[in-house]
Amino acid sequence: MSFSVLGTGMYVPPKVVTNDDLSQIIDTNDEWIMQRVGIHERHFSEQETAAEMGYRAALAALENSGVRAEELDLILAASVSGETISPSVSCEIQGRLGVSCMTMDINAACSAFDFMLETAAGFFARKKVKKVLVVGTERLSRLIDWTDRSTCVIFADGAGAVVLGEGNGYIDAVFDVKGGLDVINIPQPVGSSPYYQRGQERKPCIHMRGQDTFKFAVTAICRDSVQVLERNGFSFDDVAYIVPHQANKRIIDFASAKLKVPKEKFYVNIDRFGNTSSASIPIALDEMNRRGMLKKGDLLLLPAFGGGLASAACLLRW
Ligand code: UT7
Repeated sequence: MSFSVLGTGMYVPPKVVTNDDLSQIIDTNDEWIMQRVGIHERHFSEQETAAEMGYRAALAALENSGVRAEELDLILAASVSGETISPSVSCEIQGRLGVSCMTMDINAACSAFDFMLETAAGFFARKKVKKVLVVGTERLSRLIDWTDRSTCVIFADGAGAVVLGEGNGYIDAVFDVKGGLDVINIPQPVGSSPYYQRGQERKPCIHMRGQDTFKFAVTAICRDSVQVLERNGFSFDDVAYIVPHQANKRIIDFASAKLKVPKEKFYVNIDRFGNTSSASIPIALDEMNRRGMLKKGDLLLLPAFGGGLASAACLLRW
């Protein structure tokens, strides 16, 4: 027994910030951001926490699926930008939903949605659950170094969610993790222990070596996608849509050229939402679902990559 997606939801804060708006506070311009990243505008929270956004996306997904919150057996959530380490974001969402099922956070940065689907698949396989809520939610604006123009124009806020039920939609996934602090790093504050010997402390915000991340991302998206398709006997021709993590439009364009897969097969919405890390794939799925783009039986490929460094690619039948 595996699972199928019963419904999708998303929430983005109402505050829309364009490239022109950003150029008022930092030395950048619309032309550079559009050409190098493909973002035109993004949403930033003025009040909502990551948990609040996740809760709102969860409500939308529950409504879309016709599942009541009380039916949930498990809530999985991911966020690198939750306001508290404890309670976890999944606990916060559960509390707001007023239910008492098991909850768990998964920390795999931008790849977390795929890691959560694989985790959910394990619970379904063991027949421990019938209905599962999966949420990716980020308030990355609180982790942005607003003096670093190479990151503050990319990252954004938002949440996406799916409700899963018993079925045979989930096919397989591959994962690749290379642990290390060098390429992408979001340090926590070191604290004030009188015993800890302090060294060079980095600011608790997103540090990213952009070009190294870019190369890793293109390699990962291509390798993981080919691997998961081949080992399940599929080719790119069988895939209705590739729904990748939305990190940079040029990463998607490079992958499309390298794999010789037409650009039209890749769903892209980074122009309107920026890079929302763990939320980007479920936000894209919700848009596609509500636009009526997804037909029952469509094969979807979901490649993701980011901090860890971690990457993954899932195969899902709609
Ligand atoms: O979601 C997690 C995974 N993340 C990713 O996959 C992100 C991967 N990396 C990237 O998307 C790109 O590397 C960035 C968008 C972060 C940066 O783009 P880049 O094309 O790699 O630019 P760069 O950092 O090599 O900088 C090139 C030039 C520099 O100027 P000089 O030194 O050549 O004069 C930068 O100062 O572009 C300049 N630059 C900017 N100019 C205007 C960097 N950021 C900006 C900016 N506006 N916002």
